[in-house]
Amino acid sequence: MQRSQWNSNIGFLAAAIGSAIGLGNIWRFSYMCYDNGGGAFLIPYVVALLTAGIPLMILEFGLGHRHVGSAPKSLHLVAPHWEWLGWYSVVFVMFGIMLYYVVIIGWCVNYFIFAMDLHWGDHPEAFFLEDFLGRSAGPSELGNVRLTILLATAIVWFIHWFISYRDIAKGIERACKIFMPVLFVLTSILVVWTLSLPGSGEGIRWYLKPDLGKIFSGEKWYKVWAAAYGQIFFTLSLGFGIMIAYASYLDRKANIVQLAVWTSVVNCCYSFFAGFAVFGTLGYMAQKTGLPPEEVVQSGPGLAFIAYPQAISLLPFGRELFGMMFFFVLILAGVSSGVSIMEAFASAAQDKFGFPRAKLITLLCVLGFLGSILFTTQAGLHWLDIVDHFLNIYGLVFVGLMECIIIGWAYKTIKLRKHVDQLSKRHWSPLWANSIKWVVPIILLFILAQNFWGEVKEPYGGYSWAAVIVLGFGWVVATLFAGVVISLLPWKTEMKPPEDSSA
Ligand code: PHE
Repeated sequence: MQRSQWNSNIGFLAAAIGSAIGLGNIWRFSYMCYDNGGGAFLIPYVVALLTAGIPLMILEFGLGHRHVGSAPKSLHLVAPHWEWLGWYSVVFVMFGIMLYYVVIIGWCVNYFIFAMDLHWGDHPEAFFLEDFLGRSAGPSELGNVRLTILLATAIVWFIHWFISYRDIAKGIERACKIFMPVLFVLTSILVVWTLSLPGSGEGIRWYLKPDLGKIFSGEKWYKVWAAAYGQIFFTLSLGFGIMIAYASYLDRKANIVQLAVWTSVVNCCYSFFAGFAVFGTLGYMAQKTGLPPEEVVQSGPGLAFIAYPQAISLLPFGRELFGMMFFFVLILAGVSSGVSIMEAFASAAQDKFGFPRAKLITLLCVLGFLGSILFTTQAGLHWLDIVDHFLNIYGLVFVGLMECIIIGWAYKTIKLRKHVDQLSKRHWSPLWANSIKWVVPIILLFILAQNFWGEVKEPYGGYSWAAVIVLGFGWVVATLFAGVVISLLPWKTEMKPPEDSSA
């Protein structure tokens, strides 16, 4: 069977950027700046981008492109005993992160509709936590499934199915080529709109006022650096097997380095830009309500579903339109990341077992929907918080670290360097190789150790030990186990070594 291909490099870029730009760019990045030294945070952020983000992106693109395969197949071709790592990455992302990522996009769909009549009323916090989520007292109290959320989750799974069941060019590429320009235009409108509001300038000052002390001499300066590196891995969708799969559909002559640089830089510029809309709005709200920054600034779901609705209700005109645009932006950013997660797993299953695509995608969406139901219960928010924390650290960071060790040390970077270099005009390989061998693994190891230390000191997020062990560690171990088992099954398809394997 002929492997699917992107129609053009631009189409590939739209999809890769679509994967990278997700909810995190909007609700996480600007808060991290605010919390970690304002504009000064851009220094560790750019350093992280240059020394870890782009090198790892080149590694993942190079790996998928050279071996023309998903993460498990590429790693199998590096050495069969590494295949399990590839499976682990695509299993934890598909049967972990994806299950709740879709539910969050479902919340955005609900809120898109709520925005039509500012349904959250005068108390958005109570509305979100009580009326909408019906949040239970803790992770062990599942309560009932929330029907509005369930319905929206089903719709979002259907959208994923609709985009992905066709082949790459007709499905994901076509969708992302529409989604990305619309996303940029809508975000620009939101930025201009917010900047015209009184008080927005003050908000931007909170976002970007540099505090160099925090990053160089503050008490916990190294935490700021670790946060910058952590954000770079997450925002670029690295360590999930996604970029490996996407690059496997590239043209044989594609310039890997150039594409990696474009994907990474556009993603980071988007985060920076979207921060103006976020903090502009928060500044306006602070001025209107007279509240200090600590009271209005939030990140994550608190920003999107509590602070933003509150600000929207205070706008002088066009509230409904502004609200709908904001949630639509989140939906676009979310879906273009969601389809990439599913693709990481789907391409792996197709590579190994030769499943027909449309049937496989249908099955994945049905299974995914069933799994998502857990997160539509009244304990959903607790579950999501715990699983998200554990999978991002012990999934993403761990896989990223192992990739560097395998490629940098066991496999020797030279093979991948040759492949990448021969496709680009300038040769960056010495710089790249040193990042992969030294900079990235050392930092990832530090992040891993720092988190692990935090984990054993006290249970994450103030939850009970039981919840953290069952849900957090349980999910990590279960997906790892599944990954290892799948890697032991025999291959049903033919495996071709890379064309340049004599190199
Ligand atoms: N990169 C995305 C973001 O910043 C997140 C993401 C996570 C994408 C997992 C794909 C998979 O939000």
